Amino acid sequence: MEELLRLARQLRPTALDDHGLYSAIESQVKRFSAQTGIDAQLHLEGNADHLDADREIAVFRIAQEALANVARHADAKRVAVELQPVGEHGMELAVRDDGRGFLTAGAGSGLGLNGMAERARLVGGELDIVSVPEGGTAVRLRVP
Ligand SMILES: Nc1ncnc2c1ncn2[C@@H]1O[C@H](COP(=O)(O)OP(=O)(O)OP(=O)(O)O)[C@@H](O)[C@H]1O
Ligand SMILES: [Mg+2]
Repeated sequence: MEELLRLARQLRPTALDDHGLYSAIESQVKRFSAQTGIDAQLHLEGNADHLDADREIAVFRIAQEALANVARHADAKRVAVELQPVGEHGMELAVRDDGRGFLTAGAGSGLGLNGMAERARLVGGELDIVSVPEGGTAVRLRVP
């Protein structure tokens, strides 16, 4: 049990402890823009005070992987990241890029997309990816 707790703490990004989810995502988006030159817009509604630790980590890690995919694969000019509280415990995240898109049907084997879906499932959430070749990609997470 102690070992598990130690592992869980290691997996929790320190940025979340320091300033909370919104501020951690804000830093992440700024760093993303600075490193890639892609114009990133951030829309934050309300706050994340009602979110428990597991949901917080899931939202943060999914945003991180979605942005990593934009940087590596999308060839995008712009990306928009949105966070919006839903219900008593929940949060919605959207990461949309205007890049090259891909065929989601054939992309099931990547660790990133599967990992995002698994993280969403573990906190009772849903991950929805809509991508159109040459028409950009939208990753949406809804955690109730
Ligand atoms: N935003 C995006 N724009 C264009 N293509 C994407 C985007 N996100 C994912 N893809 C495509 O889907 C594939 C699978 O993505 P996934 O994150 O699962 O794997 P990966 O990024 O290739 O590797 P990793 O396991 O390190 O994440 C990518 O290789 C890429 O072809
Ligand atoms: Mg990836």
